[in-house]
Amino acid sequence: MTSPVTPPPSGPPPSSQPTLVRIALRAGIGLALFALITISSVAVTRALTAERIAANQQASAYQAVADVAPLNHDGNLLKHTVTLPAAPSLGQLKPFTAWQAVSDDKVIGLVVPVATNQGYSGRIEMLVGITYDATLSGVRVTQHRETPGLGDAIDVKKSHWIKQFRDHSAESVQLGDGGIDALTGATITSRAIVNAVHASLLWYQNHPTQQP
Ligand SMILES: Cc1cc2nc3c(=O)[nH]c(=O)nc-3n(C[C@H](O)[C@H](O)[C@H](O)COP(=O)(O)O)c2cc1C
Repeated sequence: MTSPVTPPPSGPPPSSQPTLVRIALRAGIGLALFALITISSVAVTRALTAERIAANQQASAYQAVADVAPLNHDGNLLKHTVTLPAAPSLGQLKPFTAWQAVSDDKVIGLVVPVATNQGYSGRIEMLVGITYDATLSGVRVTQHRETPGLGDAIDVKKSHWIKQFRDHSAESVQLGDGGIDALTGATITSRAIVNAVHASLLWYQNHPTQQP
């Protein structure tokens, strides 16, 4: 008599089931750890970068204001801010922030943000530095869309044209005639800036509270 044949067990051997669960569990934990490390490193990088971006923005804001401010200020331009009422002639339709140049606790000048829409390609933004005697300590364009190779020479990185405004007064800020030389092929751009700077000096003269 033959003994009954035991049918082979179906499915994976009983011992391999816990192994599969273990593998899946290990893969899951690995994946979760990977995600955690990735998220943390992105967060850390972002925090470090944000700090550096803010510091760079602060530094370049300071540089732009310092470039046009009267020379002998106390080095704390960004601390001496004043909020001034709207001044449409400066292109400021709402109250705006300006920077006072201070020396020995006396205000020796003011840096004002000025905008004009008279550019060849629209809006031009600039910083205008004015000394207490209503002469210009400097002008720099901070934003514009003028044509590369023509109007973009207003940017101090492209040419020295904007530097000629220094020491001019309301009487002498005019195109030509011993005043400001226009950029060749960019008279519209040049005139837009001359007009805006001239308007800034007139505004300053009419706002004695901004003077020491
Ligand atoms: C494609 C193009 C771009 C121009 N870009 C400017 C510009 O950025 N600024 C400007 O004042 N005029 C610009 N112009 C206008 C002419 O340069 C200018 O009106 C004309 O040449 C007169 O020259 P003038 O500015 O020396 O008087 C542009 C003209 C063209 C066709």
